[in-house]
Amino acid sequence: MHDNIEKIIVSQDEIQEIVARLGQQLREDYQGKNPIFICILKGAVMFMTDLVRAYDDFSEIEFMDVSSYGDELESSGEVKIIKDLDVPVKDRNIVIVEDIIDTGRTLDALIKLLTTRGAASVKICTLLSKPAHRILDVHVDYVGVEVPDEFLVGYGLDYRNQYRNLPYVGVLKPEVYA
Ligand code: PRP
Ligand code: MN
Ligand code: MG
Repeated sequence: MHDNIEKIIVSQDEIQEIVARLGQQLREDYQGKNPIFICILKGAVMFMTDLVRAYDDFSEIEFMDVSSYGDELESSGEVKIIKDLDVPVKDRNIVIVEDIIDTGRTLDALIKLLTTRGAASVKICTLLSKPAHRILDVHVDYVGVEVPDEFLVGYGLDYRNQYRNLPYVGVLKPEVYA
């Protein structure tokens, strides 16, 4: 385990099980629909690459970079589009892929945007959900696991852009923030 990690919240094995379960569920639900999986950079990268391989059927992958946290521990409340899609979503079935839903602000803004652009459907698939922090009540269709109200890093999640490459999700030792 990494020196700065106090405890593991979602292990590598648990992540594998979640990815297999959600991939299969999506494959059943989207059969014949050629969905576009939209990865929300940067946090969702690890989950996305594992999830679409578990999905293993006709689909497309695209990327968007939207940021609400910057370098801070708390969401700023402002959702900035840093990199937009470069394909049309009109009449397409969209699955937004996220690492974590916290306040729900990022997703709320994204669902509105993609719906305005004429997507046939917009659903959400997230590895983690932190219900204790929800400010906007967004409907989440596919959830890996609900997590406690702690600041998490690993498997895409960062603290100041570090720790994204940990193969599990964990909590940092408090002295790391000091
Ligand atoms: C984090 C996380 C989600 C979002 C969730 O991204 O990856 O995208 O915040 O928070 P919310 O529900 O309160 O909107 P962040 O903005 O930190 O960018 P990153 O993915 O590049 O780390
Ligand atoms: Mn993110
Ligand atoms: Mg972040």
